[in-house]
Amino acid sequence: MIIGVPKEIKNNENRVALTPAGVSEMKKHGHTVYVQATAGLGSGFADEEYAEAGAVVLPTIEDVYAIAEMIIKVKEPIASEYPLIKKDQLLFTYFHFASSEELTHAMLEKGAVCLAYETVEKTDRSLPLLVPMSEVAGRMAIQQGAKYLEKPLKGRGILLGGVPGVPPAKVLVLGGGIVGTQAAKMAAGLGAQVTIMDLSLPRLRQLDDIMPANVNTEMSNHYNITRAIKDADLIVGAVLIPGAKAPHLITRDMLKLMRPGTVVVDVAVDQGGCIETCTPTTHENPTFIIDDIVHYCVANMPGAVPYTSTLALTNATLPYAVQLANKGWEKACAENEELKKGLNVANGKILYKGVAEAWNLPFNEEIALANA
Ligand SMILES: NC(=O)c1ccc[n+]([C@@H]2O[C@H](COP(=O)([O-])OP(=O)(O)OC[C@H]3O[C@@H](n4cnc5c(N)ncnc54)[C@H](O)[C@@H]3O)[C@@H](O)[C@H]2O)c1
Repeated sequence: MIIGVPKEIKNNENRVALTPAGVSEMKKHGHTVYVQATAGLGSGFADEEYAEAGAVVLPTIEDVYAIAEMIIKVKEPIASEYPLIKKDQLLFTYFHFASSEELTHAMLEKGAVCLAYETVEKTDRSLPLLVPMSEVAGRMAIQQGAKYLEKPLKGRGILLGGVPGVPPAKVLVLGGGIVGTQAAKMAAGLGAQVTIMDLSLPRLRQLDDIMPANVNTEMSNHYNITRAIKDADLIVGAVLIPGAKAPHLITRDMLKLMRPGTVVVDVAVDQGGCIETCTPTTHENPTFIIDDIVHYCVANMPGAVPYTSTLALTNATLPYAVQLANKGWEKACAENEELKKGLNVANGKILYKGVAEAWNLPFNEEIALANA
């Protein structure tokens, strides 16, 4: 198959969908790979490395879209890319169709085949192409939180790990899934006193077994949260209710219970946030202050660490991309339920129920029974 890797053009997106190692793997399977010039630069991969791995480097994005049967990307196509997409071209990338009606209509009109990273799903209902970004965001939450706790950045002025003779900071993690677990591990590693709250008792049991001694687990409820926020230095929001807005576990009026300079990092901001006062921010302007509480609410945290995020993402996407290239999307999806769940749009039809429902458009059940 002819594979194209365009340079990401969405604002501040430095990741790339295929590394030179990925190119080499595709070549091993007999495919041809075209990479747009400088596509990998933001993640530390020079054009020469792609060429050495066997890719052909093309000068423009137009060249890449024009030649490729399958486009592998990171972010959804933006409006300037729509005219470049060809009928029946396979696009394998994050789409998040339910948050853009314009994108949904554009892909339907183009007749593109859209396989969305975010809906590829394993039989245990986990989302293998979202996990790596949650891992990055969870770990980064502590790095950012530690930084904004410093006095010049308006935090309380406390070192997460303390020093001998001085107690460490208290970190409260709301939600013990992928983000929460990684955040708790990082905070614990730095020596903080960590509490993780979750609604799931089996999950709390599991965390209690694997976490170091400076991590406590507690049931998530209003009473426990109200008590814990009073002396927390750093609070990480990491809850997720699949397909729904995040619940507001900390409401506006609860901020006054917290000490001035407390930092909240609401990683769940992309689902509305679990702290009521959180609204999405950017890497250029990551924080704002309400009632003396520092809010960090960047909606695309992994974008700040592309060297790590690109490798984490491509480690997870490559095996699926190879299947698509080897078999073509129809055979690959017929033989692999996980990939089939990723089918969102094909032949001008919506094949994913959630997307059809989001925009009140017909859902094609016949092709997409597994997505129901
Ligand atoms: N901001 C970013 O850059 C970024 C990056 C990656 C992920 N995220 C977001 O982070 C959030 C968490 O992702 P994840 O992969 O860890 O999800 P996950 O499904 O692995 O974990 C969510 C956890 O929240 C728990 N939970 C649900 N309701 C709760 C409640 N009321 N109190 C306490 N816990 C509760 C669940 O039991 C589960 O353990 C998602 O919204 C995800 O989209 C954001």
